Amino acid sequence: MSKLVLIGGGGHCKSVLDAALRMGVFQEIVILDPGLNAGSKVMGCAVYGDDDKLGELREKGLDNAVITVGCVGDTLLRRKLAEKADAYGYSYPAIIDPSAVVSEFAKLEPGVFVGKNAVINAGAQIGRHAIINTGAIIEHNCHIGAFTHVAVGATVCGDCNIEEDVFIGAGATLIQGLTIEKKRFIKAGEVIVR
Ligand SMILES: CC(C)(COP(=O)(O)OP(=O)(O)OC[C@H]1O[C@@H](n2cnc3c(N)ncnc32)[C@H](O)[C@@H]1OP(=O)(O)O)[C@@H](O)C(=O)NCCC(=O)NCCS
Repeated sequence: MSKLVLIGGGGHCKSVLDAALRMGVFQEIVILDPGLNAGSKVMGCAVYGDDDKLGELREKGLDNAVITVGCVGDTLLRRKLAEKADAYGYSYPAIIDPSAVVSEFAKLEPGVFVGKNAVINAGAQIGRHAIINTGAIIEHNCHIGAFTHVAVGATVCGDCNIEEDVFIGAGATLIQGLTIEKKRFIKAGEVIVR
């Protein structure tokens, strides 16, 4: 059983934490967030301080981390926090809610979060620190770039190539075979056909 540090203690953290608890594979889960009081608890897990404590926690033997600051578009903070954790040599497990369906023929890179009832089909590749949020669908052979966020209930049909740092809004639909350039922001409910 390993120990996990969640970097960011807000709403997205609660989704990730709930999934991590349901996975039942972490012996201890600690949260870092500058906006929360050290010693307080989020869903039964201790807040240890802010991200300046990453080194101290690494020395205490916590070697797994997930970036749990949420984002709607701008991934800069998530990227900065990942760089900071990289410098201390953290590993990034994929956190997959047990209700999600992930094909054994899909490939997930480190630090990916897959929320409740999400589906990732065969041949899909999900880049590091990407978020596949609650109920999102990633169809066969899609590539999802690093730090991209596919928000709740969005659908990416087969063979799409979604580059890095893209935001796909809640309930958006992308038809098959599209390429979406990096940093593009797709609005909630948008239907993209070209
Ligand atoms: C597109 C978006 C960023 C616009 O936000 P905003 O700049 O605050 O815009 P406003 O809410 O002031 O709306 C401006 C106009 O755009 C329209 N609009 C807002 N969001 C829209 C959307 N998703 N699709 C179509 N029109 C939209 C509004 O109706 C409004 O129209 P009006 O000027 O005719 O009244 C936002 O609505 C959105 O889609 N955010 C993504 C949220 C999301 O997916 N969250 C998932 C979290 S997991």
